[in-house]
Amino acid sequence: MADLSVEVHDGPVVQAVKFVRTYWPLLLPAFLIFRFLCYRYASPLRQYPGPFLASGSRLWKVWSTYSGNTETDHILLHEQYGPIVRIAPNEVSFSSPYAAREVLAAGKGFHKTDFYSVFPPAENPDIFTETNEHAHSLKKRYASNAYSMASMQNLSSYIEDTQRLLASKLDQKCISPEQTCDLGDWLHFFAFDVLGEVAFSRKFGFLESGCDLEGAIKTIDDVQWYDGIIGQIPEWDLVFRRNPLAKFLPGMDPSKSLITRMALEELSARKNYGEKVIDRKDLLSQLMAANEKVPENFKEGDVFAIAHGAIFAGSDSTASTMQSFCHHVLREPSIHARLREEIDAAVAAGSLGQFPQWNEVQALPYFQACLKEAMRVRPAVGLNITRQVPPQGAEIGGKKFPGGTRVAVNGWVLHRNEEVFGAEPKVFRPERWLEGDAKNMERYMFQFGGGSHLCIGKNLALLEMNKTLPLLFRDYDLELFEPQKDLQYHSTFFVVQHGLNVRISRRGSRN
Ligand code: HEM
Repeated sequence: MADLSVEVHDGPVVQAVKFVRTYWPLLLPAFLIFRFLCYRYASPLRQYPGPFLASGSRLWKVWSTYSGNTETDHILLHEQYGPIVRIAPNEVSFSSPYAAREVLAAGKGFHKTDFYSVFPPAENPDIFTETNEHAHSLKKRYASNAYSMASMQNLSSYIEDTQRLLASKLDQKCISPEQTCDLGDWLHFFAFDVLGEVAFSRKFGFLESGCDLEGAIKTIDDVQWYDGIIGQIPEWDLVFRRNPLAKFLPGMDPSKSLITRMALEELSARKNYGEKVIDRKDLLSQLMAANEKVPENFKEGDVFAIAHGAIFAGSDSTASTMQSFCHHVLREPSIHARLREEIDAAVAAGSLGQFPQWNEVQALPYFQACLKEAMRVRPAVGLNITRQVPPQGAEIGGKKFPGGTRVAVNGWVLHRNEEVFGAEPKVFRPERWLEGDAKNMERYMFQFGGGSHLCIGKNLALLEMNKTLPLLFRDYDLELFEPQKDLQYHSTFFVVQHGLNVRISRRGSRN
């Protein structure tokens, strides 16, 4: 009898699936190696040196950010490989401050990369996180009045209230002569409470309680660490934070954090009861006024996102800079002595009031030199500032780069350029600002970024630091507890520092 059975053959798709299912332990590594080699050798960036891992994957960047040492890694990287280093298949880092000016210059078409889109709030980007340049410039235009020096000066008395509270807390640390205190923590609490006053007319309560209430500051640092790492591989955000289940994980739902809760309460009180609930023009009220004027361009969502974003962008950064200032000045007795001499002379001449004012402190050249030098050697942003080359391509530092290439600059590297900043650029030496070409050095300082993305909070940060640091050195004897030890620091986006332990007493009270 004839055999009627028909041999059924799998179609090509099924065959391919079966093949992959059987051989995937070999195929996957082969694919990854092939992709790595293509990235490494088939890219126009192959001529640039850099770590082997970085030439074919983004793992080097992710690891560097995860380890919290991006700023130091980049200093070493440029020392080893030169001025242009390949740090990812499609990304190069520049060490030259001249190149950085080209990359950050307004109007040259270098846009923010999707690194920024990982930073919350995703649903309503603020000025920092907005990657659409047109939308960014509208938001910045309507918010700029609220951040102007004049607006900030009008809020001076609220900074002074917070200074009074800081001083009363430090005074309690002066009771016993051998008492030490973590000045870094107090400056951190201070910076957050100032931002609370400026943005929402309320302190968050960190100074009053003397602790990181509900771990809010630590949560912000952890979130920014996540943002920094995932910002290197933004598509992975969909797997982690933008995964619908993420909000059930502890710490992943930002609306529950102390700062966000207080900000939301303030916004809803003002929406319900109007301007009458406050007696001053804080950041929130000025942004609300801008929204009332042009609701179609500056939306209600922008008001909250920008006022809330200010806390995240402005607290760690200002605290970190004040910590660096204190650490560097206190570590070098001759610098400390010269600074105190200048401040004491101004007090004796009656030109430094109880609460130092902006104009008074501008007339203290050595103080200004110390502040610039602190921002030079230890800028508060530790990660790279990254931009995308415009579609038509661009020339940077005399080299051509195709459209879409990512280009990165890091303040810690840029500020160590000997040609611009003079000999021994790694050394904290405020005198360089008094002897050298200070105007030229200022042109190449990037502690506040540059171009159309120059830090909008610069006026507030400078006002706050100019008012607070001279007051500290005028009123207290400060001595590093372990002068030989550096501050411990790690970069999330900002450089988060620990270990500014000092012996403290009121001036004149030590014998
Ligand atoms: C010493 C203190 C500060 C430092 C060192 C600092 C540093 C910076 C840097 C380097 C950038 C550019 C980032 C980039 O392009 O990737 C930036 C942008 C920004 N900063 Fe600051 N900042 C400080 C204080 C503040 C304060 C107090 C606020 C708000 C109250 C603030 C709000 C912002 C915002 C919104 C942006 C985005 C600007 C834009 O893209 O147009 N910053 N800051």
